[in-house]
Amino acid sequence: MTETPSSLRLGIAGLGTVGRGLVRIIEDMADLLSARAGRRIVIRAVSARTRKRDRGIDLSPYAWCDNPVDLAALDDVDAVVELIGGGDGPALALARETLGRGKAFVTANKALIAAHGATLAALAEKNGAPLRFEAAVAGGIPVIKALREGLAGNRVGGLYGILNGTCNYILTRMEEEGLAFDDVLADAQRLGYAEADPTFDIDGIDTAHKTAILAALAFGCAPDMDAVPCEGIRSIAPVDIDYASELGYRIKLLGIARKTAKGLETRVYPAMVPLASPLAQVGGALNAVVIAADPVGQTVYEGFGAGEGPTASAVAADIIDIARGLGGPPLGVPAARLETPVSIPREAHEGRFYMRLRVEDRPGVMADITAGLARAGVSIESLLQRGAALNGGVYVVLTTHMAVEAAVAEALTLFRQLDSVLESPTMIRVEGEPETPA
Ligand SMILES: NC(=O)c1ccc[n+]([C@@H]2O[C@H](COP(=O)([O-])OP(=O)(O)OC[C@H]3O[C@@H](n4cnc5c(N)ncnc54)[C@H](OP(=O)(O)O)[C@@H]3O)[C@@H](O)[C@H]2O)c1
Repeated sequence: MTETPSSLRLGIAGLGTVGRGLVRIIEDMADLLSARAGRRIVIRAVSARTRKRDRGIDLSPYAWCDNPVDLAALDDVDAVVELIGGGDGPALALARETLGRGKAFVTANKALIAAHGATLAALAEKNGAPLRFEAAVAGGIPVIKALREGLAGNRVGGLYGILNGTCNYILTRMEEEGLAFDDVLADAQRLGYAEADPTFDIDGIDTAHKTAILAALAFGCAPDMDAVPCEGIRSIAPVDIDYASELGYRIKLLGIARKTAKGLETRVYPAMVPLASPLAQVGGALNAVVIAADPVGQTVYEGFGAGEGPTASAVAADIIDIARGLGGPPLGVPAARLETPVSIPREAHEGRFYMRLRVEDRPGVMADITAGLARAGVSIESLLQRGAALNGGVYVVLTTHMAVEAAVAEALTLFRQLDSVLESPTMIRVEGEPETPA
């Protein structure tokens, strides 16, 4: 490839799934990228852990750095792309070194941006260095660009996201095939949809990282993982998926960020969403984000949130922006103007709830349950008693009107103390759609 003096010269750290995909895009679509960027984009140096690994790509034209941080110091590297991963360690060291030198930094690393986004943005702004992280949330879906640029003339009321393909794949198969969580997880691991250690995905931590980043962009605050309590999908049972469907809902793991009169609420939990809502239609490994904003109203973004092609596509878009000279504060507002919003604690959450109890099949049990709810101050929207549960007793399934989470927690505690309640009750939150600001 001819390299012109104005080429944007890259150093790429990390040559795994995403790094390999990026090298392929840059090599295979060089002319297209150059036409769009207005200058050529070339790779000058790369780094990974094991130099000799066969990656199915020819790395011989590029310089090699054993230590990824050395990429930042190379005179013929203008921009560094970090595709290693991890919230600290080499990824953070490389970000600091690159931005500290006033060079552009692109990453797909949600853990890094969720933990250090505000300080890295400040460093980038101080040194006039672009910092981009489109691939960090929802892979191939340009949702960061949507929040930072496309919706810049709006006030965001709230956003809901299906941000983890592994969880969505598991929930979809549980529903479609009536399988238990453990069985689908084992199959997902066999098929490569879930990691050998799936904790980050199924316990909601990955979704929490992404939610913290989206909340920062939507509401002009620093990403704050501590403000995102998270629950995963391990406890979702097929019976709850069936009852959700009977009640007109589907269960999805949601990342939620919304502004209320009391402050900013950021949460991750499995929730029942109405069957007719956009998020309920998103199946398999797909991701989606619904954003409600004023004056635009509701916008919906859907696509693949992971994988070589979709993720590398988002990284390539960031690189093209840098080659074009597009700037602006990485988090949408200058780092010095990021706000520290009042964060609504978990127990103050107001919403609707589903509860399932396995109880003895005898007179008086329903009265105990309704008395517990009344004592906690929770009002019932619907109450169903179902035939025999698999493991003895019967199921009582109820949904509430709007209630405060602390009151629902109190009701659940009361239920656990009842002799007639045969196992710890299940609670799942019921969501509508994000609301545009009043
Ligand atoms: N995979 C996806 O679908 C996806 C989607 C969205 C975002 N992301 C993000 O993209 C980033 C990369 O993910 P990935 O899936 O491509 O990871 P991966 O396949 O595990 O690749 C990681 C790469 O980093 C290299 N590496 C690890 N430690 C290193 C060190 N100390 N020094 C130099 N290189 C080191 C590895 O080298 P070796 O190859 O020599 O071991 C490997 O090439 C992560 O931040 C991830 O969260 C990934």
